Amino acid sequence: MLANKTVVLGVTGSIAAYKAADIASKLTQAGAEVRVVMTQPATRFISPLTLSTISHRPVVTSMWQLETEFSTEHVALAEAADVVVIAPATANIIAHLAAGMADDMLSCIVLATRAPVILAPAMNVNMFQNAITQQNLAKLKARGFVIVGPEYGRLASGKMGLGRLAEVEQILGTIKQVLGRKGDLADKHIVVTAGGTREPIDPVRHLGNHATGKMGHALALAARDRGARVRLITTAAPAETAGIEVSRVETAVQMKQAVVKAVAQADALIMAAAVADYRPRSIAKAKIKKETPSLTLELTRTPDILAEVTGDFIKIGFAAESEDIVTNARRKLKEKGLHLIMANDITDKDSGFGVDTNKVTIIDRSGKVESLPLLTKREVADRILDKVVGLLAKR
Ligand code: CTP
Repeated sequence: MLANKTVVLGVTGSIAAYKAADIASKLTQAGAEVRVVMTQPATRFISPLTLSTISHRPVVTSMWQLETEFSTEHVALAEAADVVVIAPATANIIAHLAAGMADDMLSCIVLATRAPVILAPAMNVNMFQNAITQQNLAKLKARGFVIVGPEYGRLASGKMGLGRLAEVEQILGTIKQVLGRKGDLADKHIVVTAGGTREPIDPVRHLGNHATGKMGHALALAARDRGARVRLITTAAPAETAGIEVSRVETAVQMKQAVVKAVAQADALIMAAAVADYRPRSIAKAKIKKETPSLTLELTRTPDILAEVTGDFIKIGFAAESEDIVTNARRKLKEKGLHLIMANDITDKDSGFGVDTNKVTIIDRSGKVESLPLLTKREVADRILDKVVGLLAKR
């Protein structure tokens, strides 16, 4: 995704400038060519040497320092960029860009580039909330700039407020989303469910399962990186959600409500969630005390979401099996009216709960069975999405 992409990383004078080192490092590790451009104030917060060492390239800090002629260099960088990211972006650079000014190397590049530009603002809360900054951001957004963050948190002043640089993972996710915009799922709307549902017993206890949401979260990120609009309905907190619409739910009933709402405009539904098949018939209002030597819970069926939601979309399920894997998965595919089902053997330690790998067998409507080797969940996600692209093309 990031390999061989040219990312112009603009760094401006905020205390959060030190985090640019982490961003540059992660981009470089992912195979991107990182070209760092710093404003003069940024060099007061972090050394250009740090960023040039991390990015393995000279860092541009002024229009006048260059060995090559600046007039060609800023155009060269603007043209080479697949994406321009300014992280952190101060109120000052935001104002300069909104005014169309080009009085330093970074603003020259932004004005000259045709690549998408991402801004990750970081500043004092009052500066951020100032109507002028807000107007500037709104203007840039309307012009197609992508804004990520800021977040609420502890600011340099020691006070809590909105103005903290977005998490590095979120900034990297935004870069991937922007680079993937024209991918093979562009304009498609994919709904993904993830995690294990939790069915309450009383105010402190629930019935749950071992699912962690990793497979569903990998699917959501992979679909986003291929250009899809993604709605992730999950019971677990994903590590990164840039550009993804997230609905947090707890129970099977809540998940069903969220799925029904989301599929109205969806091209595909992928149910990777481990949905409880039963829930306690009633939820105790007060904590159940250990007064009796034994306790019987009466359970009742939850809705079978995958079987019950219908519509004009591709429907994909998973089948967690411990025996007769293909036979059971085939039956589920038929009973739930699916286009595809991914069967996995939950007794295999590499494809069980909470691990980063999975080994699935893909079964389609024609009965074709394809066993994939052991792959990372991200690789499995991309294999599934290859199938989705094929199925959508046939519609
Ligand atoms: N599923 C669902 N709603 C449920 C149970 C399961 O939508 N109440 C979905 C899962 O997300 C998965 C598929 O159905 O995509 C199969 O789930 P699985 O638990 O393997 O199958 P069940 O239908 O629950 O059958 P069983 O537990 O009897 O194996």
